[in-house]
Amino acid sequence: MIRVNNNLFELHTLNTSYLFRLTKTGHLEHLHYNKRIALDDNDDALWEKHAFVGGNQCSYNKDNLNISMDEMRLECSSTGKGDYREPFVEVVYPNGSRTSDFVFESYEILETNPAFKTLPGSYNEAKPEHLKIVLKEKYYDVKLILHYFVYEECDVITRSSEIINNMDEEIRVERLMSAMIDYDDKEFGITTFNGSWANEMNRHEVNISAGKFVNSSVNGTSSNRANPFVMLSRKRCNQGHGGCYGFNLIYSGNHAEIAEVSIREKLRFVSGINPQGFSYILSKGDCLEAPEAVMTYSSSGYNRLSHNMHDFVRNHIVRGKWKNKVRPVLLNSWEASYFNISEHSLLKLAKEGKNVGIEMFVMDDGWFGERNDDSSSLGDWDVNLKKLPGGIKGISEKINNLGLDFGLWVEPEMVNQKSNLYNEHPEWVMEIPGRDQSEGRNQRILDLCNPAVQEFLIEKMTEVFSSGNVSYVKWDMNRNFSDVYSKYLGKDNQGEVAHRYIIGLYNVMSELVSRFPDILFEGCASGGNRFDLGILCYFPQIWASDNTDALCRTKIQEGYSYGYPLSTISAHVSSHKNHQTLRDTPIESRFNVASFGVLGYECNLCDMSKEDLEAIKAQTEHYKKWRETILFGDFYRREENDNKITWSVTSKDKTKSMGIIFQKLVNPGQTSEKFKASGLAGDKLYHFYNRKMKINVKEFGELINTMAPIHVRQDSLLHNIIAKFVKLDGETEDYIVNGATLCSNGIHLKQGFGATGFSDEVRLYQDFGSRIYMMEEISEDDAKAYKDKIREKKEEKIENRE
Ligand code: GLA
Repeated sequence: MIRVNNNLFELHTLNTSYLFRLTKTGHLEHLHYNKRIALDDNDDALWEKHAFVGGNQCSYNKDNLNISMDEMRLECSSTGKGDYREPFVEVVYPNGSRTSDFVFESYEILETNPAFKTLPGSYNEAKPEHLKIVLKEKYYDVKLILHYFVYEECDVITRSSEIINNMDEEIRVERLMSAMIDYDDKEFGITTFNGSWANEMNRHEVNISAGKFVNSSVNGTSSNRANPFVMLSRKRCNQGHGGCYGFNLIYSGNHAEIAEVSIREKLRFVSGINPQGFSYILSKGDCLEAPEAVMTYSSSGYNRLSHNMHDFVRNHIVRGKWKNKVRPVLLNSWEASYFNISEHSLLKLAKEGKNVGIEMFVMDDGWFGERNDDSSSLGDWDVNLKKLPGGIKGISEKINNLGLDFGLWVEPEMVNQKSNLYNEHPEWVMEIPGRDQSEGRNQRILDLCNPAVQEFLIEKMTEVFSSGNVSYVKWDMNRNFSDVYSKYLGKDNQGEVAHRYIIGLYNVMSELVSRFPDILFEGCASGGNRFDLGILCYFPQIWASDNTDALCRTKIQEGYSYGYPLSTISAHVSSHKNHQTLRDTPIESRFNVASFGVLGYECNLCDMSKEDLEAIKAQTEHYKKWRETILFGDFYRREENDNKITWSVTSKDKTKSMGIIFQKLVNPGQTSEKFKASGLAGDKLYHFYNRKMKINVKEFGELINTMAPIHVRQDSLLHNIIAKFVKLDGETEDYIVNGATLCSNGIHLKQGFGATGFSDEVRLYQDFGSRIYMMEEISEDDAKAYKDKIREKKEEKIENRE
């Protein structure tokens, strides 16, 4: 709800309120962003008092000697008027001055969605709530417009800004941020998600007691170094308790989230396009838009914060046919074949895939030009007829005939020097003429600032996507920016390149998704180098990391889960040993972790054992049954110890939940373990059970000789024969329990293996071992009947033993 009353601006969501007021100097003073509060006549209780300015601070002006901008909690600060903190906006005016003072002119409450001309934005299919405030520079005909959008049901408020030059002379915008909040104290931790290639989304928390903390990217993308999703939280905030704020940007380029403690020990938070390297000229009538910033507040910990963000992303960011629709289980050719593909080998792989329940086959890199390694052909998007004699049409038809959908990989934004495109259009490449260039994966970036390049990509990709029955596209981007320079733009506009590139990219993506509304697009940038809300406005899912190791993935996927719903996180089961870490993890753990996301496989099924293929068949069956809950339910992380991870995802109607426990390393001294559920209805009964597993006797190594009548040598023919025919039953967990008990006490699981004694009452739980558990609501009557059945089974088992 938006209300403006007596110079007080109120934005309310279900559980939060965001309040600011217009001061007598024409500035917007921030008052409150926290739990929902009702206002009464004593509203001046909410604002800071300004009777005098301290020591050597500057007063605002002669008429307001008691007011210092340095003290004021502002909705948007500018430079040069005595506020020395990080500014919201910085402009260079025709006389070279850098002082701005934007004061209130007007406001409107509208029922309109964000309508950016250059950038994507959120949307509300119900009734959009929009507050637009126009500010005017005091001495120049320049307007600064602030937009606020309220998403009541998910406790999200978004903000953006635009600056318009109405003067005949040019101005130069050195920064235009998207959101700014001045808190009235500094007692926060800031959590950021940092990393590198194959090592995305490591969670870090720091406390800032003085100075500045900057989370930012300058490499051209939102980056794996510093994701734009960040949190501010109160001391002792955890998954289920405490106050915390989540912030994100609907933007895929260089960004900055800056937290600064002021001299009065208040925290300022600013986020938006990274001002580093940014400089944008506005001629008469020109407008610069800042990306939309997303904000949420949770008074009950990080899980709630994540639910708000997840609901927001699923309902107000992701759009099109695939919004809130389950995704096919796919098989990707990359780790199975790398560049070495042929129609024959791909079909062989796809056929195996079909047998184990795969629904879509994806042909990754290597299908075009002379692409036999990463040194050539990006830009030449014509099929290699030696590898695929029937072209895309031929292979897609053959894949379809197997009963599978067909998808392919492209990397449209790039060009290899070894390509026809580079030779034909060197002016389309982002390079600084006359300088030696830095290199990255043997490729250069196309200058998407240039409309001719955008047009080429749109038409060329249209040709590729229409050249066969293409149901899915993986859109990759494998190069960080260097030698940033647009041959299309003039020398004074080079500070615009990084931002204009992103605008150009959005133009291309927007046109292609509207031309191909049925295609499922997946974003990718060497894994998660561009995992952000800007991409998600066009593509409903993103490849989270090139690292498919199950252990690493627990950390990577958990990192993403703070800000992004599982329906956006693409996760694959790969082979062992893992190609990135050379680690062996159980095939069930690889699946269990990947199943908390958009599931795919990326391994050579043709070389896999019968046992593994059977396991995969059971996995895909299980996932299909549960994917609706996994992708669209409420995801919970549990506070555990350093050796254990517990997640669960519970359907919105609380009738179903699936949970995972994952252990890093075995500790035979700690064999008892509990699983605690989350988000279930306390008064409802649930059937709790595990996925049944078969155990390979080889797991026990030499210990087989404690049971076998004859001596079995490790890896001997005999050992392999026994392993082939003797499969042990894994443990069974089978209980009827109410939701309150499941969530508070949890289930005491079967003991984990601890050196002595193994039976089907013991959980074989190795290094990187994991289990998934299902909980399904059951009526009182069915519960009673089921309990009787469980009892009978137990009695039967005891009798058999006797
Ligand atoms: C990037 C992607 C991989 C794969 C390769 C192909 O590294 O992240 O998944 O598609 O490119 O070259």
